[in-house]
Amino acid sequence: MRPDTSAPVRLEDYRAPAYRISTVHLDIRLAPRSAKVRARLALERASDTAPGTPLVLDGDDLRLTALSLDGRVLADGDYTVAPDRLEIVSPPTGPFTLEIETTLDPDANTKLMGLYRSNGTYCTQCEAEGFRRITYFLDRPDCLAVYTTRIEARVGEAPVLLGNGNPVESGPVPGTDRHYAIWHDPHPKPAYLFAMVAGDLACVSDSFRTCEGRDVALNIYVEHGNEGACDWAMDSLKRSMRWDEEVFGRAYDLDVFNIVAVSDFNMGAMENKGLNIFNDKYVLARPETATDQDYAGIETVIAHEYFHNWTGNRITCRDWFQLCLKEGLTVFRDQEFSADMRSRAVKRIADVRLLKSHQFPEDAGPLAHPVRPRLYHEINNFYTATVYEKGAEVVRMLKCLIGDEAFRAGMDLYFRRHDGEATTIEAFLACFQEASGLDLEQFALWYEQAGTPVLKVDSVYEKEAGRLTLTFRQQLAPSPKQPDKKPMHIPVRIGLMGENGEELAPAAITGADTTGDVLHIRTPVQTVVFSGLTERPVPSLLRGFSAPVSLKSDLNESDLLFLAANDKDPFNRWEALQSVVMTALIAATAGAARQEAVTVSPALIAAFAANVADESLEPAFRALCLQLPGEADIAREIGHDVDPDAVHAARTAFRRAIADDIAPTIRATYEAMRDEAEFSPDARSAGRRALRNTLLDYLGHGSDPAGNLLVQTHFDASDNMTDRFAALSVLTHAALPGRDAALAAYEERYRAVPLAMDKWFMVQATAPASSTLERVRQLTDHPAFSAGNPNRVRALIGAFASGNQSQFNRADGSGFDFVADFARDLDRRNPQAAARMMSAFRSWRALEPGRRAHAEAALRRLAAETDLSVDMRDIVERCLQ
Ligand code: PHE
Ligand code: ZN
Repeated sequence: MRPDTSAPVRLEDYRAPAYRISTVHLDIRLAPRSAKVRARLALERASDTAPGTPLVLDGDDLRLTALSLDGRVLADGDYTVAPDRLEIVSPPTGPFTLEIETTLDPDANTKLMGLYRSNGTYCTQCEAEGFRRITYFLDRPDCLAVYTTRIEARVGEAPVLLGNGNPVESGPVPGTDRHYAIWHDPHPKPAYLFAMVAGDLACVSDSFRTCEGRDVALNIYVEHGNEGACDWAMDSLKRSMRWDEEVFGRAYDLDVFNIVAVSDFNMGAMENKGLNIFNDKYVLARPETATDQDYAGIETVIAHEYFHNWTGNRITCRDWFQLCLKEGLTVFRDQEFSADMRSRAVKRIADVRLLKSHQFPEDAGPLAHPVRPRLYHEINNFYTATVYEKGAEVVRMLKCLIGDEAFRAGMDLYFRRHDGEATTIEAFLACFQEASGLDLEQFALWYEQAGTPVLKVDSVYEKEAGRLTLTFRQQLAPSPKQPDKKPMHIPVRIGLMGENGEELAPAAITGADTTGDVLHIRTPVQTVVFSGLTERPVPSLLRGFSAPVSLKSDLNESDLLFLAANDKDPFNRWEALQSVVMTALIAATAGAARQEAVTVSPALIAAFAANVADESLEPAFRALCLQLPGEADIAREIGHDVDPDAVHAARTAFRRAIADDIAPTIRATYEAMRDEAEFSPDARSAGRRALRNTLLDYLGHGSDPAGNLLVQTHFDASDNMTDRFAALSVLTHAALPGRDAALAAYEERYRAVPLAMDKWFMVQATAPASSTLERVRQLTDHPAFSAGNPNRVRALIGAFASGNQSQFNRADGSGFDFVADFARDLDRRNPQAAARMMSAFRSWRALEPGRRAHAEAALRRLAAETDLSVDMRDIVERCLQ
């Protein structure tokens, strides 16, 4: 807890620490209700700190049980202590040693920050400010120290003892039932990268030889019984290590790399130096319990945490405002890795879908903030889609603007120049400016200005002159605390498609700088002329989604459908079709509000049919083309006075119309995608399942009873989780007759597999039925549910709040009240999880007036509570601003 919880932290107030800590020796003696932590810190006054300046260390909920300085116990007047602060009134002017003993209760730690227990295993989570819940410290990322950790526990309770770095020594504690291990991490690091684990865990081992010739022991620790579910994670780890060497020239730098999977974890995983701790959801996979999506998620998160070793650990952040320095860059790196492991086009589409569904709404509402925020009340609330996903887009744009070679040169320079430092976005950008010679001052606004720019494009073709003129107009709406915006430097990758599907090359381009096929758009209105054309082209704009903007072009339905069928850029083929579909769905929503029947244009039906049957395209890509924008996506595009019931009705009718109009094609392709071979999680097989299961969704939602029946058959015949869960979802969401029996059969099969039960909770929580809220309420009493476990909470309540547009946003407001009440209770136990849940309210102002009033009332009710956590209050108050 910060002393004055209402005072925000501001970027401009950054000051280097007054004291430095060079080494940290920790001695941690574990016991369930009482863990003793002795920290010996080697401290030194910074050269620009006046002698006698008090030393102030951070704490959070700590109990000090001993304190000495240079071996002498401190007298009362020499220090002041509180749970959140330890001050040494007048430290020595030269180097000195401070020894601090704190006593913790890991079992009572329900926040899952600091030292806690998960299913009996002791583990830690220190990012962002959890180390101060273990000992008093300069808990800030620019305080880099070398750590040595001794861990001691009862042998029976914790045969496995793990720390950061390399193992040094271990053995029994003579005359006791206890043992110890000492770990040493030679790489200076900030406290947020500290970790230790102690428990009775099984281990799966492998090894890796780096390009520098270092043999690294790789270990994945899991609860006993899960050893058989680690192969995919291990394989992903080895591929990540090789890829980082080949693509970024980065090799691993310790003799061991340990991963521990725990079942209670607030986030996805954590990149602690040499000792990554994972939410078990991102480690454990068997065909029987994990979907293809889970496999892909594991591959991504394993890579992400591994890549942090260079982007985050070797080079870390100066302060938490620079969070995107490590997160945006590392997401970019894991996206590129997955693109290389799988289909680049499919990966790009998946990433853009995620960006649009999570980041765009954030950027359009009251929780909007810059990729690099300037102010926070609670840093935990800034692990957002904006910092992560938009942060990755900014790095991608940089690469697009300066080209691949200069980008690699800039990365090399960054690693060379800043290795071992805690640095800033400015320092990062300077490397690319130097490597490319491009002035990045305007580009840097992507880190400063919140909101999604709208980019309008109008086109004029003059036949006689053979000239295409594109007029770009960029607009960036005001966002919280940013009323006026400056124009951005936007990379627009472009191609000109000729009538017969060939790319046209203009003789000249004027009005914009270019890097290859990328236009640099920099002014509010910018006119770009393409001359020397022999026919009217259809411009393919923003290829590969070259900038995170909302593109509004004047292309009509026939131009877009032409691109959907012919564009050389697969991303834009997908995007063109989506944009036609979106326009149609918005019109259908308006129609549904007037009780009109939904019709789908013949041209659009034909485009769908062509796609389903087009065997020249990879199945995973076809699957993405056939997936309609979600209800939240449609709501986002409508933008104001949204009626979620109308959106739901329109989308449902639209899907049914397509299902019915091209039923034979859907059926035939569904059959053709059947795989007889044994399950394999590789991208090709997963793509076939994705297409087949997407078609199953149409079959289940069409009017033909025979098509509906296939869903039951699919469920009964499934021999892997991907197919089983796909069928269960359709049965449940389409409310088909076999639904209850299927849910019961699934529950019976998986009742002892928590991660599989999460899917069962989720599928029910996202059903668009009016009975769903009542069902979710009942399920909170289910034996497999636990309000203390973040995965369970996210699967049931989180999925209802963020994944069920029509029922969370119920017209009577009961969905809002339920989630607000749940979050209120959760806040007492786990503020971080509660605050995250409340972010489901971020788009409340875009609702129609009745629902808006209910949402506001629920938020105001919470805001009136006097004992909200800082986390929760921050989200609730920003939502209301
Ligand atoms: N740094 C982690 C990651 O992105 C995320 C995280 C943040 C985990 C805070 C725990 C706590 O890889
Ligand atoms: Zn990360």
